[in-house]
Amino acid sequence: DTPALVDSFGRVATDLRVSLTDRCNLRCTYCMPAEGLDWMPSSQVLTDDELLRLMRIAVESLGITDIRLTGGEPLMRKGLTGLVAGMAALRPRPRLSMTTNGIGLAARAAELVDAGLDRINVSLDTLDEELFRQITRRDRLRHVLEGLAAAKAAGLEPVKINAVLLRGVNEHEAVTLLRFALDNGYHLRFIEQMPLDAQHGWRRDEMVTAGEILDLLRSEFTLTVSDEPRGGAPAEKWTVDGGPGEVGVIASVTRPFCSACERTRLTADGAVRSCLFSNSETDLRALARAGARDEEIARAWRDTMWGKLAGHEINEAGFAQPIRPMSAIGG
Ligand code: GTP
Ligand code: 5AD
Ligand code: SF4
Repeated sequence: DTPALVDSFGRVATDLRVSLTDRCNLRCTYCMPAEGLDWMPSSQVLTDDELLRLMRIAVESLGITDIRLTGGEPLMRKGLTGLVAGMAALRPRPRLSMTTNGIGLAARAAELVDAGLDRINVSLDTLDEELFRQITRRDRLRHVLEGLAAAKAAGLEPVKINAVLLRGVNEHEAVTLLRFALDNGYHLRFIEQMPLDAQHGWRRDEMVTAGEILDLLRSEFTLTVSDEPRGGAPAEKWTVDGGPGEVGVIASVTRPFCSACERTRLTADGAVRSCLFSNSETDLRALARAGARDEEIARAWRDTMWGKLAGHEINEAGFAQPIRPMSAIGG
C-alpha cells in the first residue's frame, strides 16, 4: 500500500475535484439540451456525511491537498456552506476552491469565505446580454456580474473567469472579455471546447483552437509567454501588454497537458474517475453503503488511479466520448 494516489505512469494525484450535484440553473448550448437532463435520483447522490467521509479518507490517507467543488452548479447543492465548513475542518486542512456559474454567489460569497472557501472560478462566455441569453438560454448575466463583484469583495482573490469561445457565436467577445477582466482585476482563461456535451454535438473542426484564440487577442494586445512555473495547471499563461495583467488558455485538445495531470475526480453519485475522459469508474458509494472500512475505500480509490490512462484520446482515430457528460462529471 502506497500512501498516495499514484498511477502507472508515475503521476501523483493531489487535487480532488468533487461534483456536488449534476443539476444546473443554466442550459448552455455546448453543455446540455434546453430541456435539461435526467438528473441523478437523490437516493443516489452522496449525503453530506458520505461526502465528508470520502473527503476525509482522501485527505488523511491519500495525500489530497486541494479540493475543488464543481457541479453541475455547486451553488445549487443544499447545505453547501456547512459542507465547506466540514471540509475546512479536515486535517491537514485542504485548500478549498469552487468552479461556479456565479448565479446566487452575490448573496453567499461572504458566508462561503467565512466557512473556509479559499478561491473561486466563475464561468462567463460573454458580456452581451442578448448573447448570454442565446448561449445559456437564461437571462441572468446581471446575476453573474454581481456574483463576480461579490467574490472579489469577499476576498476570494484572484477571482478567475473561465470562458469558452464558440465559432460564429462569441469569438468577437474575446477582446471585450479580456478588457473587462483587466479593468476589474479578474484572471481570465479561455477554454478550448472539449467533446463532453450531453448532445454529442462537438466537432473538431468547429472548435475554436488555442492558436485562434491567441490570434484574436493579438489583434488588440501584446502577449508574452509567462515565465511563472506552470506545474500541473491546465492553463498556459501570457502576460498582457507587459503586465501585470495576464490571460490564460486551457488548450485541452490542441496542447494536452495530461502528462502533468494531478487530478482525481469524484462524481455527485460517488464514482471515482481517474480522468475526465475515463470510460471506467469505481462506485465508492456502493462500497461505503455496503459497510466498507476506510482502508477498503482507500484501496479501491488507489486501484482506480493506478489504472489511469496516459492521457485523453480526443486526437486519436476512433475516440469515443465518455458516457457521462461534463455536467455529471464536474469538468
Ligand atoms: P485552477 O486551480 O484555478 O487553475 O482551476 P482549474 O483550471 O484546474 O479548474 P476549473 O474548474 O476552473 O476548470 C477550467 C477548465 O479546465 C474546465 O473546462 C475544466 O473542465 C478544465 N479542466 C480542469 N481540469 C482538467 C483536466 O484534468 N483535464 C482537462 N482536459 N481539462 C480540465
Ligand atoms: N468543453 C470545455 N469547457 C466546458 N465547460 C463546460 N462544458 C465544456 C466543454 N465541453 C466549461 C464551463 C465552465 C467550466 C467548468 O467548463 O463553461 O467554465
Ligand atoms: Fe488529466 Fe485526463 Fe484531463 Fe488529461 S484529460 S489532464 S489525464 S484528467
